[in-house]
Amino acid sequence: MKRLVVVSNRVADPGCAQALGGLAVCILDALRKRGGLWFGWNGEIVPDEAEPETTSVTFDDLTFATTPLTEREYRDYYLGFANAALWPVHHYRLDLARFAQEAIDGYRRVNDRFAETLAPMLKPNDLVWAHDYHLIPLGAGLRARGVRNRIGFFLHIPFPPPDVLVAMPEHEWLMSALVDYDLIGFQTRTDQANFCRFMCDFMGGEMIGPDVLRIGAREVTASVFPVGIDVDSFAAMAESPSAAKRIERLHRAGEPRINVIGVDRLDYTKGLPDRLRSFKRLLELYPQNCKAVTLMQIAPPTREDVQAYADIRHELEALSGEINGQFGDFDWTPVRYLHRRVDRDTLAALYRGSQVGLVTPLRDGMNLVAKEYVVAQDANNPGVLVLSRFAGAAEDLQEALIVNPYDADEVANAMQKAIQMPFAERKERHAALLERVRERDAYHWMDGFLRALAGCRVPMAA
Ligand code: ADP
Ligand code: G6P
Repeated sequence: MKRLVVVSNRVADPGCAQALGGLAVCILDALRKRGGLWFGWNGEIVPDEAEPETTSVTFDDLTFATTPLTEREYRDYYLGFANAALWPVHHYRLDLARFAQEAIDGYRRVNDRFAETLAPMLKPNDLVWAHDYHLIPLGAGLRARGVRNRIGFFLHIPFPPPDVLVAMPEHEWLMSALVDYDLIGFQTRTDQANFCRFMCDFMGGEMIGPDVLRIGAREVTASVFPVGIDVDSFAAMAESPSAAKRIERLHRAGEPRINVIGVDRLDYTKGLPDRLRSFKRLLELYPQNCKAVTLMQIAPPTREDVQAYADIRHELEALSGEINGQFGDFDWTPVRYLHRRVDRDTLAALYRGSQVGLVTPLRDGMNLVAKEYVVAQDANNPGVLVLSRFAGAAEDLQEALIVNPYDADEVANAMQKAIQMPFAERKERHAALLERVRERDAYHWMDGFLRALAGCRVPMAA
């Protein structure tokens, strides 16, 4: 079997093998079985004068080779371009996008440095797989250094409609860099279609097969590979005796009788203020839920050095305070908001102990939380998933209660339906969802992508 070399900005913490964010979770789940090399940022920031060194550590068959970012790289590449420009643009939020030349330059430099560091580590037969919006030009950087291996790229976040993308300065340079990959993977058919439309309408490309584009002298395959999770290991966590104890504690605390759970990085794309407003509407429209239903929202900090993230945190804190002040009582807190990371086994238990899973992003590449919630349920008494139509997961998980997260009344009505749903309907919906999540797990995702990459034509000479 060929060695797999994965490159991503975020790498799971090798020490505790824990990950926050869908990318690191699904790569770790998939790589644990196959082994290989995982190269990326170690999460550390060093002074600009320091020479960032790459260090390696190996666990079983998996080697983590990681490097810090300098302060300037962190500011320009990670915060400035990746997270203040690409992230909002790809999530259809031009209003939040900030474009600065030094950020774009920093992004180019880090991609160049990563390519320079990685190229000498590669062996001729390695399959190279770059991930996500941080590393769009990495493949071009490797090609410029003579790398002839098959190189694939997977975009974990949405690909926006062409009209949105063209508002971004340098979009032509960025998108033309994608052509150096042999295979480009997307989460959904919508993303793939947006990409192909952009390449044909704005970059002179033409479709020469259902998934194959010709752009100039290059042929690129663009296909859909929805990410998944390691179903068995997550289910085992949810079914463990310690999970049972935690669920008992959750219910013994006196409140709530019905727990609605939300778990998201505190990101403006997750629609958290809209979600709280929907919960408020639930209490207004169906007052019988007062003292009976609690929303537990777990929202760990993320990218706090970007202004839009600081803003969303304040908004959320104000809203949960407002709802608790207006509706709460001595023995009932309507919204329990936790701004921190939680162990995966605790998360699994909390999902299982919650009758409703509320996953209502305004736009999301896939959303693994939706899949985790389904897997964690007790098949003999499952909870109900309420899912935004704008999450990539909705393309597959149609048996969830699909909602428009911008419409507070619609989400409130879906929550009420979930709370009251008869046992037989809950069971039927859950069985269908579980089957789908199981079919498309982390290994299926990785296998499908790597098979397609191995099947691509050998790259043309530079
Ligand atoms: P994103 O990739 O945008 O963060 P996903 O829903 O795809 O969204 O993935 C989020 C991942 O991070 C999930 O695996 C989820 O369990 C994990 N996660 C989210 N919140 C927490 C938290 N508070 N503690 C630990 N893990 C979390
Ligand atoms: C999303 C992105 C990932 C990113 C993760 C966490 O899942 O698609 O690329 O790693 O969010 O964000 P962070 O900025 O902490 O890496």
